[in-house]
Amino acid sequence: MKSIMRLALLIFFFFLVYICVNGQPRRQSFSLAERVQQLTDMASKKSVLRFNGNKFRDYLKASPRNYSVIIMFTAMAAQRQCQVCRHASDEFTIVANSYRYSQSYSNKLFFGVVDFDEGSDVFQMLRLNTAPVFMHFPPKGKPKAADTMDIQRVGFAAETLAKWIAERTDIQIRVFRPPNYSGTFGLVVLFGIVAVFLYVRRNNLEFLYNKTMWGMGALFFCLAMTSGQMWNHIRGPPFLHKSNTGQIAYIHGSSQGQFVFETYIVMFLSILYFIIVRNY
Ligand SMILES: *[C@@H]1O[C@H](CO)[C@@H](O)[C@H](O)[C@H]1NC(C)=O
Repeated sequence: MKSIMRLALLIFFFFLVYICVNGQPRRQSFSLAERVQQLTDMASKKSVLRFNGNKFRDYLKASPRNYSVIIMFTAMAAQRQCQVCRHASDEFTIVANSYRYSQSYSNKLFFGVVDFDEGSDVFQMLRLNTAPVFMHFPPKGKPKAADTMDIQRVGFAAETLAKWIAERTDIQIRVFRPPNYSGTFGLVVLFGIVAVFLYVRRNNLEFLYNKTMWGMGALFFCLAMTSGQMWNHIRGPPFLHKSNTGQIAYIHGSSQGQFVFETYIVMFLSILYFIIVRNY
């Protein structure tokens, strides 16, 4: 009896070991056709797919692949204090939506996002310590250096993103920005105010011949243009740059770019110069 008990115990023990080794639910891996189908289904609901660590491994580490994915690595949670991330996300969504409703839409290219708070393991795996980062995952192999967009140099305006994607994937995306009427509205209001002002002062329009007023206007226009406000308006550079070590750069390191703060410094110095020259 005792030996039978011992045998039963032994069998039970092996049974436990077997469960521990094999019992954990295996992560099922999908075939290429299944993965493409799943990505297509997800993309039909949302133009930007959300990837956490597991999904990232399922769709971007799995091979073979026959699709490209453009991933934005970001940190949108408020406590991460990434101000540019929201702006970058807006531009990225514009590109993804433009692609989704364009003629070139196919299952060759998908757009996705990995948020630090959902996929910090992915950030670790790729040794990323900043956000936002735009990366292209090619159909074959790992991303190369050029598959990470150099946003320090070129910014991340939707048009720039589309151009970079065209270089990496040969898929041309025409960017459609949802029209922004606030600018037009502001202009109409401004014209209205000026018109009302001129009407009220219609009997006394002497001030229109005031040289100082026109001079100040022209000077301000020159200052705005020479300090690069138009470039800011078109390229949308960051206000300033905070490096991973916490150092803040107010002035762009290359002659190909600028920060908004930098243009304010230039404007301030120009005004200082004019004041000094005038007082001579
Ligand atoms: C990728 O492969 C899957 C499965 O063979 C296929 O359904 C899909 O059309 C392919 N995609 C492209 C872009 O060729």
